[in-house]
Amino acid sequence: MLLQVKPRHIFFALSAFFVAYSVSIYMRPYSIAENINFNKAKAGEGKLVWQKYNCQSCHQLYSLGGYLGPDLTNVISHPGKGELFVKAMIASGTKQMPPFKLSDKELSALLEFLKAADKSGKADLRNFKTDYFGMIEAK
Ligand code: HEC
Repeated sequence: MLLQVKPRHIFFALSAFFVAYSVSIYMRPYSIAENINFNKAKAGEGKLVWQKYNCQSCHQLYSLGGYLGPDLTNVISHPGKGELFVKAMIASGTKQMPPFKLSDKELSALLEFLKAADKSGKADLRNFKTDYFGMIEAK
């Protein structure tokens, strides 16, 4: 005798799948590092400096922003770049980027902000892979 599939069977099966899938998603560990170590208050001030000089109009953070200049999310940890490089870029500018005259306080806050951005994410898509379920994970 064949089991007759009724609409309610499909409904309950789909509901069970939905619940199981939701549980599996919410059980996933946070992929963001928990002990990110930076001065939150100072990074907050640095964000205001970032906004005051409108760096975002030409630069991206986490791949979002203007596209005249490069993404600055990981400029601090980038081999060959880092704090001194950022300071030099701000002070001297290039053909395409205007120089900025920041006070020492503004500059150190801005660097703390960029450090926080660096520690909290990666902008380069090559750092990520897509798993079997279509979820994006850090490599
Ligand atoms: C008018 C657009 C513009 C603004 C505003 C701007 N930049 Fe730039 N920036 C650029 C361009 C374009 C480059 C690439 C320059 C080059 O390679 O010659 C650049 C390069 C840089 C670099 C080097 C990045 C790398 O990976 O090589 C840093 C660091 C930087 N900018 C920081 C800043 C900061 C901080 C601010 C805000 C205070 C800012 N920029 C505002 C256009 C801008």
